[in-house]
Amino acid sequence: MWRPPERIKWKPAPGRWPTREEAERSMLFSPVEIGPLRLESRTWVPAMVPWRATEEGFVTDENLEWYERFARGRPGAIVVEATGIRDIPSGPLLRIGHDRFVPGLRELVQTVRRASGGRTRLLIQVIDFLAVRRRPEPGKFFARYLEIQPWLRARLGAEDWPEERVRATLAELPEDELARVLETRELEALRYGYRERVTDMDLAHVRALPAVLPDLFAGAARRAQAAGFDGVELHYAHAYTMASFLSRLNDRPDGYGGARESRVRLPLEVFRRVRETVGAAFPVGCRFLAEECVDGGNTIEDTAFFGVEFARAGMDFLSLSRGGKFDDAKQPAIGWAAYPYTGPSGYECMPQYVSDARGPFGRNVEPSAAIRMAVRAAGFATPVVVTGGVHGFEQAEALLREEKADIVGLARQSLADPDWFEKVRTGHGDEVMVCEYTNYCEALDQKHEQVTCQLWDRKGLDAPGVRRTRDGKRRLVPAVWRAPRG
Ligand SMILES: Cc1cc2nc3c(=O)[nH]c(=O)nc-3n(C[C@H](O)[C@H](O)[C@H](O)COP(=O)(O)O)c2cc1C
Ligand code: SF4
Repeated sequence: MWRPPERIKWKPAPGRWPTREEAERSMLFSPVEIGPLRLESRTWVPAMVPWRATEEGFVTDENLEWYERFARGRPGAIVVEATGIRDIPSGPLLRIGHDRFVPGLRELVQTVRRASGGRTRLLIQVIDFLAVRRRPEPGKFFARYLEIQPWLRARLGAEDWPEERVRATLAELPEDELARVLETRELEALRYGYRERVTDMDLAHVRALPAVLPDLFAGAARRAQAAGFDGVELHYAHAYTMASFLSRLNDRPDGYGGARESRVRLPLEVFRRVRETVGAAFPVGCRFLAEECVDGGNTIEDTAFFGVEFARAGMDFLSLSRGGKFDDAKQPAIGWAAYPYTGPSGYECMPQYVSDARGPFGRNVEPSAAIRMAVRAAGFATPVVVTGGVHGFEQAEALLREEKADIVGLARQSLADPDWFEKVRTGHGDEVMVCEYTNYCEALDQKHEQVTCQLWDRKGLDAPGVRRTRDGKRRLVPAVWRAPRG
């Protein structure tokens, strides 16, 4: 992962933990409404992919155990990991693109209800993404994948060569020559792996996205409702399709790119179709980027405008993240796909303890607060969820008291200790396993390996009933915490 060149090492600073009485009086542990839904506290576990679904996208026992473990900590809400809305293979990511996925998802809902005593609300994040291929082995790229176009032959002076000779010649060319003869996208496909963009108007299925996505998202939301979820979160963040429509880099000429009014059009059309499908009583919100953190990408001016438009359209909550784009991702090794959290924008999304003078904690607070302020100034009370580096009670409570957010998301801190909420609420904050922001978990995510935390994944491996990773070296969830007596 990319890290700021200053390389300043930060330690988590959770501050003082509240007594039980203080927690009871706090804003953090006070209820909040997201549209028609009441959360018991203003705490939120944002979506995190743990790589536990089957290859076909079904819920597994490991998924159930994972969410059960989070639910025992009784946060106000848990958002289930990014779940694919299409009926296409996408590896061990959860899917919701067909009714056959509903029974497994229903079991997930019931598991969370049981484990939290009905106190945690469960939402699901629904996602669309475009094709991203692995970085090819150069020999294969030139022998098979690259299309030999007339202009490529012209640049090589190889108009009448047999195709095999063109391919063999290309395979021998040095890097600078390749940069001269190949198109930018071909070079990218060679160096990073082929990746589709929402601006690839030469591809029929990309041109058709505005026609097909509203129904795909609406179908997913209908299934989420049928499975018993308390709401859906439309994934409009990071490197995926909907965020790419919102991006200032989207210059589609069909009325869905260019000016920000056009870029927000499809996200609004998707939302309206979802709303028509699930009705007003089912909470629907979205996750989007407070800042894209890439050259030429959206800044707060754009995103405050989006926030207001989403609120005006009737979204029930706005959850803000930042960065996480392909545009500045590191070159992957051959055989691996680019990963959108490896460059500076990826750092902004999941900042690590090795940082700059601003540090890794709360980098998304001020941009999110600015969006919230714009939404309030436009006359909307839509709750705003802020996430990024929050691990202490005082920090979370200050965000709420200073009206920078309405709900506080803790992603890696919940992974480090899913009991954070229950421990802090009951005056046992000093027992919290505080996240060190090492990004060990994120490195596992990058390799599509089952995500665990280094603070607990080797502890008590031999205890009865402990389910382990495929290689047997790590436990999949932390041990159960019991409050000390007295
Ligand atoms: C292992 C892992 C998986 C993640 N998966 C998702 C995801 O599915 N959807 C999403 O919007 N964000 C995802 N994120 C980002 C988190 O939701 C969160 O925005 C980020 O970790 C910053 O918050 P934190 O500092 O509290 O961890 C993931 C993060 C991690 C560490
Ligand atoms: S591995 Fe654990 S301690 Fe390290 S960043 Fe992830 S959650 Fe935090």
